[in-house]
Amino acid sequence: MQPELELLIADDDPTIRDLCSRAFRGEFRLLIAKDGNEAIALLKATHPAAILVDEMMPGAPGSAVLRLAKEMMPEVPRLLMTASGDPAAAMEAVNHGEIHRFYTKPLKLMEVKRALLELIARARADDALRIELQTLRQQKQKLPSTRVAVLCEGDNGDRIEQACGRRGFQVVRARNLNDLERVVGAGGVDVVVVHVGMGEPEVREVARLANNVDEATALVLVDPETSIQSLSLAFSIGATDCLTAPWPDEVLLSVRMERAAARPRDKRELRRLTFDVVVANRELHNANRRVEAGQVRLLNGLVRALEARDPYTAGHTDRVADISVRCGEVLGLATMQLEVIRVGALLHDIGKIGIRDEVLYKPIRLTPVEFEIIKTHTTIGARILEGIESLVCAVPIVRNHHEKLDGTGYPDRKVAADIPLEVRIVSGADVMDAITSTRPYRPGSGADEAFEIMEPMVGPHLDAVVIDALRGLHREGRLTDLLQARG
Ligand SMILES: [Fe+2]
Repeated sequence: MQPELELLIADDDPTIRDLCSRAFRGEFRLLIAKDGNEAIALLKATHPAAILVDEMMPGAPGSAVLRLAKEMMPEVPRLLMTASGDPAAAMEAVNHGEIHRFYTKPLKLMEVKRALLELIARARADDALRIELQTLRQQKQKLPSTRVAVLCEGDNGDRIEQACGRRGFQVVRARNLNDLERVVGAGGVDVVVVHVGMGEPEVREVARLANNVDEATALVLVDPETSIQSLSLAFSIGATDCLTAPWPDEVLLSVRMERAAARPRDKRELRRLTFDVVVANRELHNANRRVEAGQVRLLNGLVRALEARDPYTAGHTDRVADISVRCGEVLGLATMQLEVIRVGALLHDIGKIGIRDEVLYKPIRLTPVEFEIIKTHTTIGARILEGIESLVCAVPIVRNHHEKLDGTGYPDRKVAADIPLEVRIVSGADVMDAITSTRPYRPGSGADEAFEIMEPMVGPHLDAVVIDALRGLHREGRLTDLLQARG
């Protein structure tokens, strides 16, 4: 692999060029010049990481090449080599800061290489620091300057102004209360400094005004004498600081002004962040509403698609959903479980979409083979919903609503312990609605008769807890309104 760093070497002596090439090619990609003019041409065409040139060369001396390099790329380390008898030009270059190192021949190549690598590393670190400082300066320039309004006469006012100036704050000195109110009322003031000597009502008025303009504004009270009155006044108006005896020294005063100025900055930042969070929450809420609306449309679309395919299910799925949810409520299920039951019940026969017409619409009794085909509506339905994230919660109900507690149901022959309560509820409601619904070949049974028909199924097939809950609903008169046969 080619080294990343480029090193410009210029010397008219082919032996030196060859020696340098051999010594440095492991660490550097070499740009070789045979004289001063070639070196200058390479300087203009490339940007090496370091430059090593001989002083005595045809075309232009090494010191002239390095002078040009200093102008073009001041951060790049510049090294000069010269014959031992010719140090004057090199010393001249050193004194003018045009070179970083100066070597006499014969060169100690390993020493030169070490110096080259060190100088490049230092130049790169300096460069990174320079970029960082530049970025910080730009960021600082973007921040609006802190504005401090000061109503405090005399030496104390001057000292506060100096302390603020030390922090780079912009200070507006007010001459009197009216002046201060005008400055604060115009807005853009971060800190208000007032002397309590102006009178408590006046201080309170300034605090009220500042708070009305921007509640983030910080208030600093000045009272060279420590007094309970000034401290309690500061406390009662929510002042950020109260400057009393012993009056802070220059450095401490500047720190306390900085601390006072930090309060409005923090408050405004908090306000901005809070606003961002509120906006983000609102967007999230709206997005959720859209997703929920999409889920409802999807669910309705699937149910209507099944009803269009199988007229028998028209009304059946809605009734099974209503009966199941009411039964779940009686059994004390949580809202989330009730929602799973509602969706699962609405979709429990969705797999019938995939059953062939001659089987689905057969008006007479199905053959065993055809019955096996009908049974696949449970697994077909589960496969349909497994690919829809918002409806995947309904998969157990769709797949297992024909299971029986004794393990003789389908498709998985699950036993009671493996059948979730939500599934058992929908199974009970499904059977209840099937018995009470009118078919072309028979009228629907009334609820009382339906419970009699279901009685032998309780235990081996249906869950006694579920059927008891349905019976309870019936006794309370809260079931028949959900059934097709109202008798
Ligand atoms: Fe079914």
